[in-house]
Parts: sequence; C-alpha cells; structure tokens
Amino acid sequence: MRGHHLGFAWTTVFALFILYFGGVAGQVRYSVPEEMAPGSFVGDIAKDLGLDARRLVTGKAQIFSKNGREYVDLDRERGHIVIKERIDRELLCAGAMSACSFSFEVILENPIELYRVTIEILDVNDNSPVFPKNEIVIEISESATPGARFTLENAVDPDVGLNGLQSYSVHPTDHFTLKKQTRSGSSKNVELLLQTPLDREKQEHMYLTLTAVDGGNPKRSGTVKIHIVILDANDNAPVFTQDSCKISVPENTAKGTLLVTVNATDADTDSNARIQYYFEHATAFIKELFSINASTGEITLIGGLDFEKSSIQEFSVQAKDRGGLSDSADVIIEVTDVNDNAPVMALMSYSNVLPENAPPGTVIAMINVQDDDSEENGKVTCSIDSSLPFKIKSSLTDYYSLVTDSELDREQISMYNITVTAKDGGNPPQSSSKTLSVKISDINDHAPVFEHETYDAFIMENNSPSLSILALRASDADLGPNARISYFIGESDFRGTPVSSLVSINSESGVIYATKSFDYEQVKSFSINIKAQDGGSPPLSSNVTVNVFIQDQNDNAPQILYPVQSGGSAVAEIVPRSADVGYLVSKVVAVDVDSGQNAWLSYKLLKSTDRALFEIGAQNGEIRTIRQVTDKDAVKQKVTVIVEDNGQPSRSATVNVNVALADSFPEVLSEFSDFTHDKEYNDNLTFYLVLALAVVSFLFIVSIIAILSVKCYRWRRERMFYKSGANLPVIPYYPPLYADVGGTGTLKHMYNYELCGTTDSRKSDMKYVRPCSQSVLNVDLSGTRTVPRQSNAVEDSVDCLEVRLHST
Ligand SMILES: *[C@@H]1O[C@H](CO)[C@@H](O)[C@H](O)[C@H]1NC(C)=O
Ligand SMILES: *[C@@H]1O[C@H](CO)[C@@H](O)[C@H](O)[C@H]1NC(C)=O
Ligand SMILES: *[C@@H]1O[C@H](CO)[C@@H](O)[C@H](O)[C@H]1NC(C)=O
Ligand SMILES: *[C@@H]1O[C@H](CO)[C@@H](O)[C@H](O)[C@H]1NC(C)=O
Repeated sequence: MRGHHLGFAWTTVFALFILYFGGVAGQVRYSVPEEMAPGSFVGDIAKDLGLDARRLVTGKAQIFSKNGREYVDLDRERGHIVIKERIDRELLCAGAMSACSFSFEVILENPIELYRVTIEILDVNDNSPVFPKNEIVIEISESATPGARFTLENAVDPDVGLNGLQSYSVHPTDHFTLKKQTRSGSSKNVELLLQTPLDREKQEHMYLTLTAVDGGNPKRSGTVKIHIVILDANDNAPVFTQDSCKISVPENTAKGTLLVTVNATDADTDSNARIQYYFEHATAFIKELFSINASTGEITLIGGLDFEKSSIQEFSVQAKDRGGLSDSADVIIEVTDVNDNAPVMALMSYSNVLPENAPPGTVIAMINVQDDDSEENGKVTCSIDSSLPFKIKSSLTDYYSLVTDSELDREQISMYNITVTAKDGGNPPQSSSKTLSVKISDINDHAPVFEHETYDAFIMENNSPSLSILALRASDADLGPNARISYFIGESDFRGTPVSSLVSINSESGVIYATKSFDYEQVKSFSINIKAQDGGSPPLSSNVTVNVFIQDQNDNAPQILYPVQSGGSAVAEIVPRSADVGYLVSKVVAVDVDSGQNAWLSYKLLKSTDRALFEIGAQNGEIRTIRQVTDKDAVKQKVTVIVEDNGQPSRSATVNVNVALADSFPEVLSEFSDFTHDKEYNDNLTFYLVLALAVVSFLFIVSIIAILSVKCYRWRRERMFYKSGANLPVIPYYPPLYADVGGTGTLKHMYNYELCGTTDSRKSDMKYVRPCSQSVLNVDLSGTRTVPRQSNAVEDSVDCLEVRLHST
C-alpha cells in the first residue's frame, strides 16, 4: 500500500489541486464481500450520485485510485461499478482488525466534477485456523505434578470477527486439559494443563490432538499433533529378581570361580537405572572369601571354602541405583563336603623289635586315625596286607592296634615292613599309609646242626702230632651269640684212655688235630664224639660221631719166624740123599705186621750153593728140591732167601737156610762142626725150659686161686648191685699174629718148641694149627676196614704155624 502511495505521488498532488479548485461534489459508500468474481456488480453510481446516465459518458468519467491499484472498474454506459479484480480482504488489509475499505475518486470533465466513492470489503470465512508447525513436541518429566501448565503455540486465522479463531480443544483428555480461555478469539497463548500424574514406566509417549476452531459458518478448524515425551525420574528403586538365592558349592571349588550372579532390575532408564551391587554389612571374613562385581553382580570366590570350618556362608547384597534407591537380597552359600582330607595316622606307641617267640596277639603298635571329612568321607577303615602274620584290630573309635596273628620265625623272615593303609569311605576314597618296620629278634630256638650225620677221617699212621685230621662244621640258624658255635670233644674212653688224649679240637674252628702219632699196627680206628654248642642262654647243642681210621704205611719189614736166626746158622735141614724131586726141604715162614699190600710177602732165592738143586715157592716160601740129590752134591748146602713185602717202597728180610744132604745125623754133625756149641746152648735151653715150666705151674696155681676168690667176691657183689656191661675191661690190643688167647702167662705158640730126633720127618714136619689161624682172621676182620681185597690177600698169605723143630 505504501508503494502505491509513493508511486503515485504526483496523482495525489494532482487530486489535492482539484480539491483545492473545485471541491468534492458528492460522496457515495458501498459494501461488498471479498472474493467477488470480476464483473460482479458493486453499485449503481449514476443513480446514487444523482447524475444523468449520459453525463458519465459525456463527462468521460474515470476512476482515479490514489494507490494506483484498481480493484473495481466503471461501466460508463450503465453507470455501474463492477469488480475488476478479485479482492482478498486478508490481503488488502492484513492484520487489520477493524473494518477494511478502500476509496477512489470518480472524475468527470466538462465540467470537472469529483466524486468520492468508498468501498468497504466485508469479511468472508475463507481461512481456517493454522498452526505454525504440524507437530508440537513437549518433554515433561514424569515427576511433574498435576496443575503444571505447558504453553502451546497459537493457531492463526486471518479472518476477522466471527470468522476468526474462536476456540481450542484437545483430545484425548485423560491426562491433560486446556486451560480455560478468557475470551474467544483472543490472541492469548493456549496452555496445556496436567490433570493426573504421569508415569514414564507406564507410558513413555503420549500423542494428543489440539484443534483450533473459528466461528464462521461453516466453521473452519485446524489441528496439530502434540507429542508428549515423558522424561524419566528416578522414582523406582532397583528390585532384585530373587529375594534370596541359595546355592550349593563343593568345598574344593577353585579360587576365582563365579558362584552366582545376583540381578536386580530398575524400572527407570539410563542413569537412573544404573545399578551397582555391594555387600551389605558383610564381615571381613565374608569379604575375604567372596567378591562382588559392582557392575555385574557376579559373586566370585576369592578365598578357600572349608566345609569342616563352616558349612554355610550367608550374607546380603545390596543393589543401588544412582539416585541412592536400593534393595537387598540374601545369598546363602551352602558348602558341601568333598572328600578332600586324607585320613591322618599318628603312631601312639610302637615297638619295632619283637622276639620271635612272641605269642599271637602281641601288640606291636597303637595307631590313631583321624579324618576331618564328615559322614562317609570321614569313615576310616585300616588294613594291612593280609599275607602278613599280623592283623589290625580296632580297639576304640579312631584307635587301632597292630597285633601279631600267628607264630613268628626269625629264621624264615627276620623283618617285616608292615604298611598300614587307612582309607576313608569317600568316592573316590582318600587314603594314607604308614610303613612300620618290625625286626624279629632272635631266640635260641635252633640247635647247631652238623653238615653230616657221621664223619669218617682217614689219616696215615706215623703222622706228625698236631696234624689236622678233619674240619667239622656245624651251622646254627639263629643269630649272634645264639649262633656262635663252640666245639668240644665228648667224654669217652678208648682202651682206657680218654679220647681227649688222642685228639684235640679247636673250639672255634672245629678243626680236629691229632695230639700224637698213631701206629696202625696198634690202633686201626677209633671214634670220637664231637659236641657243638651254641652261645645261647640256655645253650643248645648237638653231637656227631667222627670215626678216625688210621691207614697203614709200609713201616714194618717182614719178620722171619722160621728158620730162627740165632747166633750162627747152626740149624740145618736134613735132606736124605735119596729124596725125590720136589722133596720139601723147608719152609721159610715170615710175617709182616703191616696189612694189605704192605703185608703181602713174596719169597725168592737170593743165593744158593747149588742153584739147580733148590727152588722156593714165591707165595708159600716152601723150599723144594728140583732134582735128584746125587752123591756128588756137597753135604753142606746154604740157601739165602729174601722175603719182600709188596709195599711202596717195599721192605725185605733175608734168611739163610742150612741144608745138610745126609742120610744120618752124625754125618751131619761132622759137617757142621759148630753144632757142639749149639748143643750146650740146647742143654741150657732145656734147663731154662724146665725152670720156666716150674715157675709157670706155680703161677698158674696162684692165679687159679686168685680168680676163684675174685669170682666169689663178684658173685657176692652182684647180688647187691646191677652189673653194668660198661664195666667190662677193655680187651687189650695185640697184633694179630701175636694174639695170646689165653692170656694166662703161658708161652706163646711160636716159642712152644718140641725137639724130636726122628728121621721120618715127612709127615710131621709142619702142622697147621687151624684154631689159631681162625683167631687171626677174627682179629683182622674187626680191625680192618680199609681195603677188603688186600685183606683177603693177607688171609691167604699169613698163617699161624706151630713149628716143630727137628733136632738130632
Ligand atoms: C536380570 O534379569 C532380567 C530380567 O529377568 C534379565 O532380562 C537380565 O538379562 C538379567 N541380567 C543378568 C545379568 O542376568
Ligand atoms: C566387573 O565385570 C566387568 C564385566 O565383566 C569387568 O569389565 C570389570 O573389570 C569387573 N570389575 C571387577 C572389579 O572385577
Ligand atoms: C623294609 O624297608 C627297608 C627300608 O625301607 C628296606 O631296606 C628293607 O629291605 C625292607 N624290608 C623288606 C622285607 O621289604
Ligand atoms: C648225643 O646225641 C644223642 C642224640 O642225638 C644223645 O642221646 C646223646 O646223649 C648225645 N651225647 C652227648 C655226649 O651229648
């Protein structure tokens, strides 16, 4: 509008000029509603001004508008004013609340006349109320109290009057209403009023519709959406999902194990719902055992649980949000028993040495067993290897005694390692064991034992004294002093002398020594009793017989018994010249006191006056003629015989045999001149023999008397005492060939000569005395245990002879 005024400044000036000169002739006023279509009739100006219809044409009437804008046009012919351009009241008089109008002049010429026309534009309800935005967002805290007001932006309606904005309404109205408007159509702000409390947790967003209505006919309205965002307030405390939680945890749970997660929820959002978890009034002990993650509520084990100390752990946890609202819950942790304790054994008493004669049931050890676990996990049983001769007995609860179960024998097992195992009833069970070493001490329950039942020892005769004969060995199964063996010679006699004079024994080594030199020809064997005794208390002993055999050595040369060598060789065998071939001249008789081979004699001719005349039997010593004696042969013959034994080296003896080849004794005497000398000797001999006979007879009588009196004495004694065979006198030993059976002092057979002067010596030369030979045999058998074969040879070769000497 201002532009129009400025643009047409000169026109205004011009109009003022006209007004100044002519003045306004008339004025007319019209009212038209806005929004009329162009050409619409406004008013009949000619009639209203009172002008002639032709005057308008002749006066060249025209419209002059000061602002140059021509909304209307003049129809000169009919004298009407019509709408030229569509008129919008809201455009024309924007913002104007009062009546809206515009004016213009109608100018006529010839004469100039000026008429003012004012046209008032009437409002038509052509606009709806309009809100500036199509959505209004309001944030309201849920803590807002009822009565709180929230200003909303107004709606705008360009129409005026009734057509302008009249009222607002909101929908739905369960939480909000609109504050009462004072006047309809006033431009006061519209306000939303909170009626009831809000709860974000129930409804976080609300959508309302605000409607603005005008008063036109018909009414027009505009709406806007109100989005109410309810803001969170910390009006909710955290709440645990469970009031209490109870869990079971085995006591051997490792440190760092997550036990349980407590969970609380908070209905609020964001920071109001950020929950932290804490222990509530927890003791230091609980804090050492568990930790809680403040942000996650995870409860972790950080210490060691022990069922045996405490089987239940109880504490409370607190959940707190940022606003300080909190809730608490109980956590009960039940610790379950795990078989984590092995039984513990303690020795109360223990004897590690046990005598082997301990009776079954002897207590060796007392053991106390403890297991800290409970129930089956703590129920302990003790056991030992059942093969051992021990058993375990439960005496009191938790106490066990280890006792012997059977006889012990140190000689079989001298030491036991007894492993006692204690095992509890858990699954899997725990066990512990203890090894007790028990030594079995020795008791002298074994006598020494010799290696053999009897011992035979062979020693050569003529041994050196102190020769060791034999080493005995006895063993003793016992130990120490109980097995220390000493050897003794048992007391016994051998031919009247105690054997301890024959041998000695080293008491420690058991070596038997001869104490003298033995002569086989005197002692062939003897037995000794050796006793072995241990050092126990009381000592045990055993004995053994040792047979000592003395073995022959060729220590004796053969002895010639016949012919007797006395002084010169005065004795001669007389061989008649008429003797046949094979005539037995003589027999050399020799003995050897040795035995066996050593006594096996052989005979040989060493020298002979006439070698071709005699021969000798190598075995029997018989000298025989081997040819007819002739007259040429010398009367005096001499044969030298050597007798050798078979020993190594052999020993020998020689004898000269005189042989006289004659038919008569005088002949011989003349030849053997020294016979006279012999005769004196024989006379003497005869005398001595007679004397001896007298003495012997006397002695015989004396001894008969003595024997009779002894016998009588003994007979009287026997009536009082039992007569023991052991009292028999020991039969003295004699070499076999010298055995004197009678023992009464008579002459021995060898010296029992008989002199006879018969010439017929053929039948009576030799006479074998059998009983004597048998006695030899007996003695030999009893004394010879050495070589049986040799023994036979001895029997063959050795004879006991009664010799008759032919004299005169
Ligand atoms: C806590 O409990 C709620 C509701 O039961 C669940 O949605 C959430 O995952 C739980 N939180 C944890 C850490 O378990
Ligand atoms: C709590 O747990 C969270 C997530 O597991 C972890 O990041 C944090 O380090 C823990 N806090 C503590 C004190 O352990
Ligand atoms: C018993 O144990 C000891 C030492 O451990 C060992 O020297 C000995 O040989 C064992 N004895 C037996 C019979 O096993
Ligand atoms: C030898 O032992 C036997 C039995 O073995 C016994 O009868 C005898 O008395 C013992 N002799 C000695 C001298 O000990």
